[in-house]
Amino acid sequence: MASQEIDVFAVCHADAIERGGAKGFSLSRIDDSGESRLFPIVVVRTFGNDYIGYVNRCPHDGVWLNIGSGEFFSPDRSFLRCGRHGASFEIDSGFCIDGPCNGKALEPIALAVIGGDVCLCGVKLVEDRRLPDPFEDSDETMDIMIHPD
Ligand code: FES
Repeated sequence: MASQEIDVFAVCHADAIERGGAKGFSLSRIDDSGESRLFPIVVVRTFGNDYIGYVNRCPHDGVWLNIGSGEFFSPDRSFLRCGRHGASFEIDSGFCIDGPCNGKALEPIALAVIGGDVCLCGVKLVEDRRLPDPFEDSDETMDIMIHPD
């Protein structure tokens, strides 16, 4: 939507994520130089019904948190966790409290629930559904959504 100064993009229906769950989305954004860049995100719905979003990229080695295992959480679900090397992140702050990126944090993204949809705010996304998806077939745990209806 371009009618406001802030870009708002509906990522998914709010109920598409269960309480205590998370979903990954593979998006593309326009950077400052006008180039399109991959923009993987993870949206967490807490048990308290808050929606929290991060760029789905570990600050240590840059991989998706859910790569390999498909899981975003530690086994007891109290932390987000890198499935490859085990870094643990606080869900509400993204701060890494254990693992190779101890002391760093996931990059937060601004979310808002508007009209029953979880919306990403303030990011210019590529909204052309004809774009080839670079993540196609690379990880079936990611939801691919370039331009939701
Ligand atoms: S990439 Fe950083 S802990 Fe896995």
